[in-house]
Amino acid sequence: MKIRLFLTVAVIISATVTADYVRPLPRKTLQFPWNPKSPSYPQQVHISLAGDKHMRVTWITDAKSSPSMVEYGKLPGQYDNFAEGESTSYSYLLYSSGKIHHTVIGPLEDNTVYFYRCGGQGPEFQLKTPPAQLPITFAVAGDLGQTGWTKSTLDHIDQCKYDVHLLPGDLSYADYIQRRWDTFGELVQPLASARPWMVTQGNHEKEIIPFLKDGFESYNARWKMPFEESGSSSNLYYSFDVAGAHIIMLGSYEDYDEYSEQYRWLKGDLSKVDRKRTPWLMVLFHVPWYNSNKAHQGEGDDMMAAIEPLFYAASVDLVLAGHVHAYERSKRVYNRRSDRCGAVHITIGDGGNREGLATKYVNPQPAWSVFREASFGHGELKIVNTTHAFWSWHRNDDDEPVKSDDFWITSLVSSGCVAQKKNELDNILMTP
Ligand SMILES: *[C@@H]1O[C@H](CO)[C@@H](O)[C@H](O)[C@H]1NC(C)=O
Repeated sequence: MKIRLFLTVAVIISATVTADYVRPLPRKTLQFPWNPKSPSYPQQVHISLAGDKHMRVTWITDAKSSPSMVEYGKLPGQYDNFAEGESTSYSYLLYSSGKIHHTVIGPLEDNTVYFYRCGGQGPEFQLKTPPAQLPITFAVAGDLGQTGWTKSTLDHIDQCKYDVHLLPGDLSYADYIQRRWDTFGELVQPLASARPWMVTQGNHEKEIIPFLKDGFESYNARWKMPFEESGSSSNLYYSFDVAGAHIIMLGSYEDYDEYSEQYRWLKGDLSKVDRKRTPWLMVLFHVPWYNSNKAHQGEGDDMMAAIEPLFYAASVDLVLAGHVHAYERSKRVYNRRSDRCGAVHITIGDGGNREGLATKYVNPQPAWSVFREASFGHGELKIVNTTHAFWSWHRNDDDEPVKSDDFWITSLVSSGCVAQKKNELDNILMTP
């Protein structure tokens, strides 16, 4: 009797330990009931960093007469300041967008809560500016879409304390149906109106129609990022500083060879980075270079061949990509080999879109790949100080966030790589 009980317990324990994670099924696209509002009611409010101590507030109104004005202050209902901005709109086949307002507010104090109102009416929103110094925490999720899993990912991000959201491409999955850009804007408003969302574009933002539409029209109109503030001539690539990090957002679908405008801008941007002020250097783009999933296998190779040597010389600490609907983390790598002065590459295209997960992997797992799993989830990056940052990946295990991978990253400043490569970088940056 005793032996049998013991055996039963042993079997149960071993089954629990070895049981594979049972992956939940895809979830449906969310339904957004029609919710009529007055024509000048602000909709789809989101904010983004816009140069030192400034924030861009973006929202949409049906009314073309609504002013692009934001009132703001540090106490609820008391707006000591206001700013006027600009607006745009676009047509896409039979669709006409509302009036898209972009208004930059500031100078703002660091790490401070502000209350604000858009266009002189509607509800009061609340935002918090990021800290001036480390520590800082980023939430990271790409390939979001607007399904039940997207909702789950957003709920989990909402539970974590973070300063800035980073999104490596594929936002709404509107895919030509412009109304879906509006429903996506409504879906993310509770988070994106409270913390800056810094995004770069993916293939689902292209929406090209031969001879009619060049691409990225809706994305550029709705998700204006600080490209002018960072000396770029295109909303598809830009950079910004926040606390002790310099973050570069690149366009996987823009020309990137050494004669391209993007490459020229990137070199200029890297020449301005001061690792004493921003010891951490991070880059985001959509198509991963280090990917051992069968989905999109090899798609990042050309961009990697063009840009990885520059990143290596510049001692990029961390690269975040999306596109593949799964999670993967690499060692510090360069040229597909483990390298103490290379970047850590993380694919985080698992936000929850309607296309579902990418479950097939190349085997054996390449030596550079540390952890890979096809589940929806989000990442959190806490940069603690000049030398240490903590990354964690939180899988959407049903409706609970479960931390399934984490590790400490030590910076390339602290490992001596930045100092060691200074001449190499200067040589590359000085070559016209
Ligand atoms: C940076 O943070 C790490 C991890 O918390 C800690 O071990 C280290 O001592 C810190 N370094 C400095 C200079 O404070």
